[in-house]
Amino acid sequence: MSIVVTGATGRFGRLTVEALRRRGVPAEQIIVTGRRIEALGELAGQGMSVRRADYSDQASLGEAFDGATRLLLVSGTEVGQRIRQHMNVITAAKAAGVQLIAYTSIVHAPTSTLLISQEHRGTETALADSGVPYVLLRNSWYIDNYTAQLPRYLQHGMVGAAGSGRISGAIRADYAEAAAAVLTEDGHPGAVYELGGPAFTMAELADVVSAETGTSVTYNDISPQEYQTFLVRAGLQEPVAASIADGDRAVAEGELYVEPTDLEKLLGRPATPLRIAVAAALRDLA
Ligand SMILES: NC(=O)c1ccc[n+]([C@@H]2O[C@H](COP(=O)([O-])OP(=O)(O)OC[C@H]3O[C@@H](n4cnc5c(N)ncnc54)[C@H](OP(=O)(O)O)[C@@H]3O)[C@@H](O)[C@H]2O)c1
Repeated sequence: MSIVVTGATGRFGRLTVEALRRRGVPAEQIIVTGRRIEALGELAGQGMSVRRADYSDQASLGEAFDGATRLLLVSGTEVGQRIRQHMNVITAAKAAGVQLIAYTSIVHAPTSTLLISQEHRGTETALADSGVPYVLLRNSWYIDNYTAQLPRYLQHGMVGAAGSGRISGAIRADYAEAAAAVLTEDGHPGAVYELGGPAFTMAELADVVSAETGTSVTYNDISPQEYQTFLVRAGLQEPVAASIADGDRAVAEGELYVEPTDLEKLLGRPATPLRIAVAAALRDLA
């Protein structure tokens, strides 16, 4: 068996590679791909095959997937181009004889009103039409999205438009471990996993940050439009600000909530609790 990990130059892909190794997959059976393959020297040193793969470059994908039996398709970052790019990956995987594609989608993709969900739906449809066996890893938000903001939270407090919506966040490493499970175990083709950890609200996140730091941090809720304006004033590009504000709108409407059962099933344990994730992120900062 040979497993291709796309996006291995990024955080999710890299964590999946580490989880595959922990599961005992020999380095020689892992093909790590991305555009910035200069970032993959360490994995090459461990015996993995490093291949350049650009979702927009069909020829690169054909070469990168040669000999692969299973493939992790990490959703790309170029919003607006992703359906075409992901279709390129699916086409190349099929031509290479890949027998399972695992795709990182979004929770409740078929009904989600998130702006970003449209490309995930398009990709899910392309997978269904491809004839290649596949499994959907419909991830809720990464807790890391929030812990990356800890210095800002501590300095300026927390602002958002998520209301009292519950976020089924899990750390990126837990989602990656779940991906490694479906790539290595039997019985996952055709499965749809709605993945997330124990839910929290932004006010509860503020309580956890306060408790873990000893600094009182409060959450200030504003409207999605106000939040978008706030983010643009803070220096974000308009489309990025719009996407983040739209994400909070969807959280407020309950769209990022999911029971933790699917993630627990794939992990074989509870997801990492929010408090532990915040404490670990604070240690990294120190
Ligand atoms: N659930 C969430 O909360 C959440 C949050 C943020 C993002 N996401 C999604 O989850 C994905 C993985 O997250 P992450 O944290 O690992 O993101 P990341 O660290 O930014 O990594 C993104 C990866 O995608 C690869 N990629 C992007 N466009 C590509 C292309 N055209 N061709 C080949 N590779 C391409 C990048 O490769 P190179 O760097 O080599 O170009 C990189 O390895 C993201 O791409 C995004 O779709 C989810």
